Amino acid sequence: MKPTDAELIRAAFKARSFAYTPYSHFKVGAALLAKNGMVYTGCNIENSSFGLTICAERTAAVKAISEGHSKFRRIVIAGNSKDFCYPCGACRQFLYEFSPDMKVICLNRAREAKRMTLRELMPCGFDSTFL
Ligand code: THU
Repeated sequence: MKPTDAELIRAAFKARSFAYTPYSHFKVGAALLAKNGMVYTGCNIENSSFGLTICAERTAAVKAISEGHSKFRRIVIAGNSKDFCYPCGACRQFLYEFSPDMKVICLNRAREAKRMTLRELMPCGFDSTFL
């Protein structure tokens, strides 16, 4: 059965609890629903060599893709910010490669949700058709 948004939100907050953020202290969790119905979760993982930090969204995406699932329906992003936690530019581009029309659900610390499509977050995106 397809997970509901509420189930994905719960999964994103659980993933958030595993975030490794000794530098920014900004924990993010993501729950990514693949087309096959599987849910892949991720958290941000920082590094003392700051540029190696990986965001929660990309952690979830690489888990899914490396298991053979690269078409996505929805992602929930759970931060702890007053405003909705939007995906960073790198994560938008990363996800756009695989599913430009997927839904993106951004949460704020009050657990309110803002629903958008990736295409709305990423107008005029770059993809393989340019190559
Ligand atoms: N971060 C994410 O994991 N996802 C986002 O969408 C925004 C930023 C992480 C990266 C870094 O560990 C911390 O948040 C502060 O930038």
